[in-house]
Amino acid sequence: MNKSDTAEVYAWTESGPVYSPASLEDVKNIELLKTACRTKHLFLPDKPQIVRVIYSLFFGKKNKIDYRIGKPSVIPRNFIRQEPWEIEYLYMLAHYSKVGILETGRFNGGSTLISALANNKVKIHSIDFDPQDDAFLINLLDQMKIGKNLNIITGDSQKTKYDSINEIDLLFVDADHSKEGCLNDMVNWWDNLVKGGHMIMHDCYFGCEVQDAVLEFISKYNVEIIVSPYKSHEHRRYPQGSFCHLIKK
Ligand SMILES: C[S@@+](CC[C@H](N)C(=O)[O-])C[C@H]1O[C@@H](n2cnc3c(N)ncnc32)[C@H](O)[C@@H]1O
Repeated sequence: MNKSDTAEVYAWTESGPVYSPASLEDVKNIELLKTACRTKHLFLPDKPQIVRVIYSLFFGKKNKIDYRIGKPSVIPRNFIRQEPWEIEYLYMLAHYSKVGILETGRFNGGSTLISALANNKVKIHSIDFDPQDDAFLINLLDQMKIGKNLNIITGDSQKTKYDSINEIDLLFVDADHSKEGCLNDMVNWWDNLVKGGHMIMHDCYFGCEVQDAVLEFISKYNVEIIVSPYKSHEHRRYPQGSFCHLIKK
């Protein structure tokens, strides 16, 4: 990673720092992506104050977090199945990728869009055996004039290798959330990940089998832990949400 003059550091790792936004362009891109974040854990100020007060009085905030996102954009609301703070974290890791990015689990293509907007230089591979609507995703990418570096694969991510996927320095695991499925994804792509490369697992929290998979994985593989897998089910309260972040040693 090259440090920009304006970059702040999220975390120091043995392989170097993990940076937060480094330019106004990044900030604008992240704000745009956040307009399409998952809203189920957010208490959005998009209703009149009186309605919000009455709602809170009767229902509380249902454990939602007060959050402000921009007006709906070209990207549909809830298109990206991530919290706003997770979007920002993944965007920055994708932005600084120098070798290649691979995601398991595309669904709508929310995380695909994050990587494509963050990085137009490295190859970005996305695998899903049952994506929602790739035609819509491709049209959206065309509209936004991004995604020429994308390799969209429809197929299995757990036990299959693809000739088009070589070395990567960012692996985003967000496909099968069972213990076996998540572990298979991590093991299947471990050899493609270069030393110093990043692994992010989504939904790594108490009560989700992804956490069990990550705990077994870190007991066997040589990794540095950047964002701990030991999270309670209140994952939205953590700065990096439900992400666990590892670096290959
Ligand atoms: C949680 S969604 C992905 C969300 C997306 N990453 C995002 O951030 O918006 C999980 C996806 O994983 C896919 N999936 C599950 N098991 C898979 C497997 N073995 N191989 C490939 N894709 C798989 C499902 O079809 C589903 O679309």
